Amino acid sequence: MERKAILIGNSDGIGLATTKRLLAAGWDVTGISRSKSSITSKAYHHNVADVSKGNYPDLLTKLISKNTINLCIYFVGIGELFDPSDMIYEPKIIDTNLTGMVRTASIVIPQMVKIGQGHFIGISSVADELLSAEAPSYHASKAGFSNYLESLALAVKSKGVYVTNLRFGFVDTKMAKGDIKPFMISIEKAVDHLETCINKKPFRYTAPKAVIPFIKFRKLMMKLIGK
Ligand SMILES: NC(=O)c1ccc[n+]([C@@H]2O[C@H](COP(=O)([O-])OP(=O)(O)OC[C@H]3O[C@@H](n4cnc5c(N)ncnc54)[C@H](OP(=O)(O)O)[C@@H]3O)[C@@H](O)[C@H]2O)c1
Repeated sequence: MERKAILIGNSDGIGLATTKRLLAAGWDVTGISRSKSSITSKAYHHNVADVSKGNYPDLLTKLISKNTINLCIYFVGIGELFDPSDMIYEPKIIDTNLTGMVRTASIVIPQMVKIGQGHFIGISSVADELLSAEAPSYHASKAGFSNYLESLALAVKSKGVYVTNLRFGFVDTKMAKGDIKPFMISIEKAVDHLETCINKKPFRYTAPKAVIPFIKFRKLMMKLIGK
């Protein structure tokens, strides 16, 4: 049976590498990003759209009404360093990272529930556990992202639909900002973990595992120094 996937935010980084990996594995892939795609394959169909714009829900509804989608992955994520004198990016980051994902799930998941099968994966971050003076909206968007996805996983499991919250530490893309990037993994390693999630369908998955005790230690330090 030909497997069909729709990938949101796949013109660069982890999304682009995953697109290539799924095509190589024989999937039919539909992509959505603000930029055009460099991929030329009969099994690949690209759409230019911005998840924060008004025409996105109609486009997504049209695309999934044409095909039975087995897998949907939401990669879209933006982040800007906080500027207390100009907070113009703050609502945009929440809208793109969190509301954009909820908009996507609210269109894709009812389709999957209708046919009693499907898998929705959202790319979150271990930032979901940490407060941040450098990027408060990014951390808050991922905190809401993880909570929503894991609750959704509980809500639709009995309908034959799987939801996975994949929380990455640093991955070597243009998005990995900051001087220190502990336990950073390559894009290809990140896609290996994503393939494990596609096969095993966990409701929560953190990678690399080495980052888990590191985050616990940071939280403890933040509590102790009251920062
Ligand atoms: N890299 C890391 O260290 C790291 C760590 C933890 C979690 N993550 C998460 O992993 C996901 C992928 O990040 P990445 O590292 O691969 O970053 P990236 O290279 O910047 O990729 C982000 C993708 O999202 C698309 N995008 C951004 N805004 C969009 C919008 N409004 N509408 C549609 N598409 C949009 C971008 O394409 P266009 O610009 O063409 O739209 C691009 O294809 C993000 O959710 C990020 O938060 C990354």
